[in-house]
Amino acid sequence: MNNTQKASCSHNRTSAQGASNNVSTADPPILNPEEAEADRKHMQKIVAALRYYQKYCFARVNQTEIYLNSLPKRHQDMLVEYRNHLRVIRDCIHENQAVIKKMLRDNVGFMDIGGSEQKDKDGYNTKIDQQDLEHAQSTLKLIARDWSTSCAEEREQSYKPIIDAVEEFFKPDDYALNEVKILVPGAGLGRLTYELACRGYECEGNEFSYFMLIASHFVLNLCTEENKYTLYPWVHQNVNNLRMSHQVAPIRFPDICPAKNPPKGNIMIAAGDFLEVYTAPNVYDCVATSFFIDCANNIVDFIETIYRILKPGGIWVNLGPLLYHFSDIHGENSIEPTYENLELIIRMVGFEVLRSQTGIRTKYAQNPQSMLKSEYESLFWICRKPTNAVDGIADSSQYDDDNVEDVQNTGANGVGISNNHCAGRYNNGYRNAYQHQ
Ligand SMILES: C[S@@+](CC[C@H](N)C(=O)[O-])C[C@H]1O[C@@H](n2cnc3c(N)ncnc32)[C@H](O)[C@@H]1O
Repeated sequence: MNNTQKASCSHNRTSAQGASNNVSTADPPILNPEEAEADRKHMQKIVAALRYYQKYCFARVNQTEIYLNSLPKRHQDMLVEYRNHLRVIRDCIHENQAVIKKMLRDNVGFMDIGGSEQKDKDGYNTKIDQQDLEHAQSTLKLIARDWSTSCAEEREQSYKPIIDAVEEFFKPDDYALNEVKILVPGAGLGRLTYELACRGYECEGNEFSYFMLIASHFVLNLCTEENKYTLYPWVHQNVNNLRMSHQVAPIRFPDICPAKNPPKGNIMIAAGDFLEVYTAPNVYDCVATSFFIDCANNIVDFIETIYRILKPGGIWVNLGPLLYHFSDIHGENSIEPTYENLELIIRMVGFEVLRSQTGIRTKYAQNPQSMLKSEYESLFWICRKPTNAVDGIADSSQYDDDNVEDVQNTGANGVGISNNHCAGRYNNGYRNAYQHQ
């Protein structure tokens, strides 16, 4: 992430329609003009990548066709069906682009997306990064993960243990749920945030990727009918397809329409970098992280921040692997402590570990029909900030093993771990968010 790409954090929040937007836990830092300009440019790049999606994807299909045309006639005759399949792929890409366009069109006014031509201040067309084009493709898969029935099982694996834990520790009979403040950092497409709010909690998602923010705003606020839109999220997967129909399998979204089914509790999405937005101590009753904590250059920063922002007695529920997103990114700093290291670090920070499990089988944005299915043996834990915690980090000698309820390994065999599962991989330099509605 180079410095010219970085903009300071703002703390803009958007609430889903039908839910009020009355929580303010930190003072929104004001962007200076340079930061605001850097942020605007960054958003333009993301929008340009989304607009360029079809051209980029068509270029790949064109290349295949050119090669196909160069093959001996005999081979081409054998590949007639495959040639037709390429046409279907092109149609799917076209339909994906139409949904993306709709998403961008509807976001205008909410975000500073601008007109159809992406030009910078000096009149040059916005340059598009290859990586952003790949993120545009991944965004489609993440829409499927969070908002389609095709990925219901995947959500059950990742989100249900978190939701169950929250309900166990903040039981509806014992709490006024709308006073239980939950934060979901790295909220992605917003489904976990929405589900927790549906159960009555006051739930805030935090996200810093414009890919995610644009798509989640569309689903949370602008979709008006269940399953209205069709996407072909697996169309870019050219390998490990058993049947042509698997590559071009449609998903429909949203499987549930938040605008029509507003949650019982308040819901909002705060845009910006988790480490920069959340500095005030003792604010949240619960922090829920799904596939998030390995998104840091320094995971200890994330753990300390979670500890700091929790109220004394507050609960941290976490599920996910230790993919360490920065570990293979050229020019990025990264540390990759093992779970064994983290168990100690979490206690050194001051947490009481109430439950800790390994081997939780979880998929992530996985094509259900692919011949290659990656699966994590994820970690799951529930930790508490001690009720008598004072602000600051505990003495490392304070932790002990006695209150770990359950350490188990379900012994599942994970296969083919991918390190490319996140649309907005923070190395995009993105720091800042959109304008208020
Ligand atoms: C692997 S995805 C997980 C998304 C979602 N929690 C899920 O389980 O599907 C991690 C998300 O965290 C976001 N993220 C990473 N670092 C962040 C940071 N420092 N502040 C805010 N969001 C961040 C990324 O943009 C991405 O959407």
